Amino acid sequence: MVDLSKLNSMSDIQDGHKLDNPCTIVIFGASGDLTIRKLIPALYHLYTDGQMPSSFRVVGFARREKTDESWRDEMRVGIEKYSRTRRVDANKWQAFSGNLYYHRGDLTDFGAYGGLAKRLAASDHAAQFGNLVFYLAVSPSLYGEVVDQLQAAGLLKRYEQNDVNWQRVVVEKPFGRDLQSAQLLNNQLIKHALERQIFRIDHYLGKETVQNIMMFRFSNAIFEQLWSREAIEHVQITVSEDIGVGSRGGYFEEAGTLRDMMQNHLLQILSLVAMEPPPVLEAEDIRNEKVKLLKSIRKMTPEAVAKHVVRGQYFAGTVNGENREGYRQEERVNSKSNVETFVAVKLFIDNWRWSGVPFYLRTGKNLPYSASEVRVQFRPTPNVLFAAQDDLDLQANALTLRLQPDERISLRFNGKVPGNSIETRPVRMHFGYDAEFGAYTPEAYERLLLEAMAGDATLFIRRDEVETAWQIVDDIRAGWGETPLSNHEFYAAGTWGPVAAEDLLAADNHLWHIPAPAK
Ligand code: BG6
Repeated sequence: MVDLSKLNSMSDIQDGHKLDNPCTIVIFGASGDLTIRKLIPALYHLYTDGQMPSSFRVVGFARREKTDESWRDEMRVGIEKYSRTRRVDANKWQAFSGNLYYHRGDLTDFGAYGGLAKRLAASDHAAQFGNLVFYLAVSPSLYGEVVDQLQAAGLLKRYEQNDVNWQRVVVEKPFGRDLQSAQLLNNQLIKHALERQIFRIDHYLGKETVQNIMMFRFSNAIFEQLWSREAIEHVQITVSEDIGVGSRGGYFEEAGTLRDMMQNHLLQILSLVAMEPPPVLEAEDIRNEKVKLLKSIRKMTPEAVAKHVVRGQYFAGTVNGENREGYRQEERVNSKSNVETFVAVKLFIDNWRWSGVPFYLRTGKNLPYSASEVRVQFRPTPNVLFAAQDDLDLQANALTLRLQPDERISLRFNGKVPGNSIETRPVRMHFGYDAEFGAYTPEAYERLLLEAMAGDATLFIRRDEVETAWQIVDDIRAGWGETPLSNHEFYAAGTWGPVAAEDLLAADNHLWHIPAPAK
């Protein structure tokens, strides 16, 4: 039987595989979008890649009337439609789908959990033990109720040192809408489970290239030596999306880009880029460093918000030759909405390493194309040797970590143009993931589900981490107050955001680096 205490570190990865960890995954919200688009396709791919435990079962829990068979059929269609391969192998499906079950029940009905407990215990499936992952693919407003009911039905209990079996709770974003609501959710969850049993998802941490930020930094001496205010002038993080809010207008009206993207994905990328090296690669040590980093971000006073934060909202325009409506015209969006679809922030990290180095973060919807990059801009060389030649195209070194798409790392430096004159030109060294490793692009959810089954919390957000990030976002929101968007905060769909975002960098004599379009 698997011992949880032995399963809390990255060192459990053996030959690229986790220790065999038989378990049952119960998905609450089994008829929802996340389940059909992400969770089941991820589990299926893990299975076909031989990465699932030798014994597992997946139980979908939702209100609609369905049988095991009808749910399996729907999931199969989902894999064909949404998965990264969009293909189902008939034999593998046969074997995989035999582990899928559907349990009809209402999340608010105690009887349904009793029924679930009986079903889990009565099944003659080989995964006949109490190792349980509860995946809450439901609205956060239901988290409290679900864990209460699970505990009452005897399915969830706080892990004790001698327990043979374990239970874990996986929760999705949005994890709250401000610090207060996040604290409430945390209190609801820890009523019946220890922090180490709670796995808060940020799917960006499941992305290969995001994970590679840490490996790149800490395994390459030449870069780590330069990774501080001594050599780095500023850092830019861009996550641009070519999609609008689509059918999610209702959600977006409540969230806005600051909560939807900045609170989680961008601050997570920032933590990995800027944190100190942890003493060891263990979940708690890594997360300690991330929290320390977030806590070192200079507090955003209302004056700082006015100067250093830009928000924006798209109006009608064209993206990739396609006409897009303005945000205010989207379905379920208030026609006078002031919700932001774009945010750019300038942050300072007040610690020894980063003192005085600005970090510029921006993200938005309906930008010209989707691309995510970290751009590290190094300081220029002293203007001595080439000072007399004002026509030289000398640019400071820059390192780009391209997170998606076309994952790559490139370094820009100056090269001499061959010939008799002293002419230089910026040139680049490229490392492309595809060229080096082939097209291996597992979905973020594959990795995250694997880690949750193995009990490794490295790629999940700890309580203090999520709360610290909310504090930053709350300070920004407080600075905005109820002020409506002004004219210069609007941008046409298909452009790189409002002019105010350009001004933010121009004030420091910098320019946003435009990511390369997808190949
Ligand atoms: C989600 C946000 O968390 O991330 C979406 O809610 C956004 O608004 C998505 O589109 C972006 O994720 P990815 O993996 O497509 O970059």
